[in-house]
Amino acid sequence: MEIISFRLTNLGRFEQLKAHLASRGKGSVTVFIGNNGAGKTTVLTSLATILSWFVARLRSEKGSGSHIPEEVILNGQASAMIDIEVFDEQGQSGNPDADESEHLYCWTLAKTAKGKKASLTSSLQEATHLAEYYRNGLTARKDQSLPLIAFYPVERVVLDIPLKIKSKHSFLQLDGYDNSLNQGVDFRRFFEWFREREDFENESGLPQDILDNLLSSVSIESDIWHKLQYFMASSRDRQLTAVRTAIANFMPGFSNLRVRRKPRLHMSIDKDGQTLNVSQLSQGEKSLMALVGDIARRLAMMNPGLENPLHGDGIVLVDEVDMHLHPSWQRSVIRRLTDTFPNCQFILTTHSPLVISDGKDVMVYSLENGELVTVSSQYGQDANTVLLDVMDTHIRNETVAKKLGDLLDLIQNGKLEEAKNKLNALKDELPSNNLELVKAQILLRKQEIKNAQNQ
Ligand SMILES: Nc1ncnc2c1ncn2[C@@H]1O[C@H](COP(=O)(O)OP(=O)(O)O)[C@@H](O)[C@H]1O
Ligand SMILES: [Mg+2]
Repeated sequence: MEIISFRLTNLGRFEQLKAHLASRGKGSVTVFIGNNGAGKTTVLTSLATILSWFVARLRSEKGSGSHIPEEVILNGQASAMIDIEVFDEQGQSGNPDADESEHLYCWTLAKTAKGKKASLTSSLQEATHLAEYYRNGLTARKDQSLPLIAFYPVERVVLDIPLKIKSKHSFLQLDGYDNSLNQGVDFRRFFEWFREREDFENESGLPQDILDNLLSSVSIESDIWHKLQYFMASSRDRQLTAVRTAIANFMPGFSNLRVRRKPRLHMSIDKDGQTLNVSQLSQGEKSLMALVGDIARRLAMMNPGLENPLHGDGIVLVDEVDMHLHPSWQRSVIRRLTDTFPNCQFILTTHSPLVISDGKDVMVYSLENGELVTVSSQYGQDANTVLLDVMDTHIRNETVAKKLGDLLDLIQNGKLEEAKNKLNALKDELPSNNLELVKAQILLRKQEIKNAQNQ
């Protein structure tokens, strides 16, 4: 399932905003950039709102999704509307003659302010229709996959991991959608789910430490070793394996996420050979682990028939994907997402030039004064160029930039004594390896030599 395009009418700050997203062989990542208040979050929440109707109708025939809140109707207007155009092969999979257009599903959600006359109306038949195909599939086949649909808002903070878990939950395939569009990472559920799968894994196989012991006591070439290896692989839970693999792919150096019961119930992970309680990780590590773990868990629940559930299909929305991330992680986050979850469509927002300069097939849109501006590929650009050209931001502190400019003017105008004083003053202020300062120093020296030769 992919979003081909969407349109917002009288919604938030947008009178009319229409965008085509990266899909259908043109890459799978779209990034929205723009200043604070440009409307990035509005775009993602609108998509989550309209997609919630498909999820609701998948759960039940007459289900209701989220409504457009009244306060987001553009001030002064009576109604707001969201349209979406979705491509999904599922619906016509039984019909090999179906052409492309038969895989397209469009639906509309509108909201009219209280006491006003409705000028825009909802039309949700095609969402219902598409959901029905999936429901028929669920009824007919045990291995029917469902498309992941998830929104990770800025408030996706990782709360402390709950120590007490009240009751045992049983997790059904459709539960993969629980809270997926309104709160992002649901760490309590993640923990409950993880513990349940792990109990299941331990019941159906030998405990890991016993297996490790056995393995180390027999020769690698022997039949027994191979049999033990096979036994170990087959007793691993497929869903847990998916989550562990996703985290290991995403965060090199991290492995073996597991639930520990002593001294108290907690989750632990190995980081570079050291075992840590998950609550000891940094905020950036936690939020990345929770994001990746949550996507992987939902995919694992929704794709019971797939050998590798990480290859499941879906749409993932992440607001401010660079949040809490170290620059080197910002740079690689898109690549890691698409490598780990190759069949998901990602729609992201960011403030970071590093996020958009590392993706080859990334579609970037800038929101400027309520309008959409297509940004040419920033692949391979350095962060300063992206800041200057695309994000309209000074690459250095303005006061320092002015002082450096004045210094160069003095040198160029031959006022070398004054330049020297200014240079020395700046040397006290800036780090000694400041590139512009070193350049100015060389330039000044050259001018001095030139003057000496001319005398
Ligand atoms: N009902 C409305 N009418 C007009 N403008 C609105 C309305 N609701 C929100 N806005 C504008 O939209 C902006 C919020 O956009 P948001 O999507 O949160 O921006 P971003 O995520 O890019 O920082 C606010 O700054 C406000 O100016
Ligand atoms: Mg925002």
